[in-house]
Amino acid sequence: MSGLFAFGMGIASHNAAGDVLDTWFPAPLRGANRATAAAARAVGSDAAATPEAAERVAAALGEDGQADAADAYRMLAGLGKPLVAVALETDEPVVSTPEAYLKLHLLSHRLALPNTLNLDRIFEHLPTVAWTSDGPVDPRDLSARVAAARSRGQTLTVHAVDKFPRMTDYVAPPGVRIADASRVRLGAYLGEGTTVMHEGFLNFNAAAIGPNMVEGRVSQGVTLGAHTDLGGSASTMGTLSGGGQIVITIGEHCLVGANAGCGIPLGDRCTIEAGLYITAGTIVDVIDESGTAVRAVKARELAGQNDMLFIRHSQTGAVQCRTNRAAIELNAKLHAHN
Ligand SMILES: CC(C)(COP(=O)(O)OP(=O)(O)OC[C@H]1O[C@@H](n2cnc3c(N)ncnc32)[C@H](O)[C@@H]1OP(=O)(O)O)[C@@H](O)C(=O)NCCC(=O)NCCS
Repeated sequence: MSGLFAFGMGIASHNAAGDVLDTWFPAPLRGANRATAAAARAVGSDAAATPEAAERVAAALGEDGQADAADAYRMLAGLGKPLVAVALETDEPVVSTPEAYLKLHLLSHRLALPNTLNLDRIFEHLPTVAWTSDGPVDPRDLSARVAAARSRGQTLTVHAVDKFPRMTDYVAPPGVRIADASRVRLGAYLGEGTTVMHEGFLNFNAAAIGPNMVEGRVSQGVTLGAHTDLGGSASTMGTLSGGGQIVITIGEHCLVGANAGCGIPLGDRCTIEAGLYITAGTIVDVIDESGTAVRAVKARELAGQNDMLFIRHSQTGAVQCRTNRAAIELNAKLHAHN
């Protein structure tokens, strides 16, 4: 075999009935290459999840020069816990909870960009979990677990009841700052040099390519290009609800102002004025160099273009698109030491 589409060994949590609640993969592998071919050989055709198999994967990765990944598989082998192995030959719709988690890990480990993995049926295989200070708990078991903690004189903190956990409980990618970990879901892609402030949010299958300043919400499917600033409480329109089908990509060196919103893809060096929400159907006056409105178009007709400045004229209320003369530079001092 020349290699797999993806491979991972990890540790799962279960409910009382033995159903999987989550799976942690410390070192997922991606791509038909020597490492995944060696991993496939090491676990055999039934993807046996034994400590010996993890040792064999570690040895193969070591021979392949992947020291960090080899260490992770050696660590797994030594934990003395039941292991889970997922070996995917091709990228098909999700069929199990561990497989759903492997794909979310691939995104957060920067091994896959948003919209490049087959995530069909993922919701069916992600159980709703109470994410607690004592790990994942089946919501049906929660009151018993709260009572048990109280009986020991302790309290159980429930961070969320949701299908997706916080990314940082599974992977903290290098070179990023995240002010509030609960605002970044597992499956988000955060590139080197990304800062997510308290109001910022990244969904699964959403990316800040880095470096970026994220103070607004990056919806499922949305990608922010390098050096782009998503201002405080700004919104990027997703495609999961409300009928919008256009996947939003925002280019490089863009500024989506505070409380603004973006419902069309933008090219590079674009700015949306603070407080202005551009939807696909917004009628926009296109203004030429002399300041004259030359045509009125729906914003979707401007999708993907570079160097656009959108403002709402403060006296007429008309939404205008001008040539952007001042593309932003991220504050280098803020991002230099992530
Ligand atoms: C849209 C924006 C970028 C314009 O800023 P700017 O380029 O500094 O614009 P200026 O204030 O210098 O204005 C340039 C010209 O456009 C005009 N103008 C700007 N906004 C206007 C508006 N809403 N309506 C009418 N005219 C406007 C100005 O009057 C000025 O005209 P002049 O050249 O004839 O004097 C700015 O208003 C903005 O919204 N920035 C977002 C900042 C932000 O939210 N950051 C994130 C923080 S969390």
